[in-house]
Amino acid sequence: MSQAIMEQNIKPLTLTIQGGVDKDGHPDAVSEIEIARGEIIGIVGPTGSGKSTLIADIEQFAFGDTPSGRRILINSLEPAGELRSDPRKKLVAQLSQNMHFLADMSVEEFLRMHAKSRGKDPGLADKVVALANTLTGEPVNPAFQLTILSGGQSRALMVADIAVISDSPIVLIDEIENAGIKKQEALRLLSGEGKIVVVVTHDPMLALMASRRIVMKNGGMTKVISTNEDEQRVFRDVERLDGWLTSLRETIRQGEVVA
Ligand SMILES: Nc1ncnc2c1ncn2[C@@H]1O[C@H](COP(=O)(O)OP(=O)(O)OP(=O)(O)O)[C@@H](O)[C@H]1O
Ligand SMILES: [Mg+2]
Repeated sequence: MSQAIMEQNIKPLTLTIQGGVDKDGHPDAVSEIEIARGEIIGIVGPTGSGKSTLIADIEQFAFGDTPSGRRILINSLEPAGELRSDPRKKLVAQLSQNMHFLADMSVEEFLRMHAKSRGKDPGLADKVVALANTLTGEPVNPAFQLTILSGGQSRALMVADIAVISDSPIVLIDEIENAGIKKQEALRLLSGEGKIVVVVTHDPMLALMASRRIVMKNGGMTKVISTNEDEQRVFRDVERLDGWLTSLRETIRQGEVVA
């Protein structure tokens, strides 16, 4: 069974979450949810409700072996061991709140090395930097040392790297509210590349941008809300408002007077 997944080259790809139990051992009300490529799916719920736990279940391809007892299927099958351990075959990329590079090399060197290790054209490094610079207000120069990048620059670079170089079709994002990047553009970019984007967020813009959101409570998946037309209309309003706030912020940053 596992071999089958390796051979079918994982395209097209679906991610299935099969329900387990909440903190009290009650079954998840959502018994199964299937997510396809290009879909943005939100995870919402109060503090301690199990959002990060669900993300972790996906990240490690839980198979009844985590406290939630959930199971993760890829293309309706149990993922092979190699898919969990071999970085070249890694299906999941994670974008976390505290992204910082530790390696002592330049942005360009790092990206070329990453492209080569994935068997891709090292020239893609330039494309990654250009893309990253559409997501951050503080441009990244390829000659910069990785260690001097700000949190926002690091995350912008990570998003662009995932979009262009890494083949990981599943991207997990745990709260990027204060990421210092253009969040909705980052999500659009990743889903536009055909990735499954799972995002923990209470940011109305990001939550409404998702086509569906899983509602967590007491460790369990209680329901799935599909973003209806009314919510999509609200999303467009929120996006306009966000654009306005961003331009005001920029005006103030530039030391100018708000007209
Ligand atoms: N289904 C579950 N079964 C058992 N324990 C669980 C389950 N879901 C969550 N927990 C436990 O509950 C605690 C809180 O969960 P988690 O950190 O995932 O919440 P969160 O929604 O991410 O919270 P925050 O908003 O503060 O980040 C953790 O200790 C986690 O191990
Ligand atoms: Mg959390």
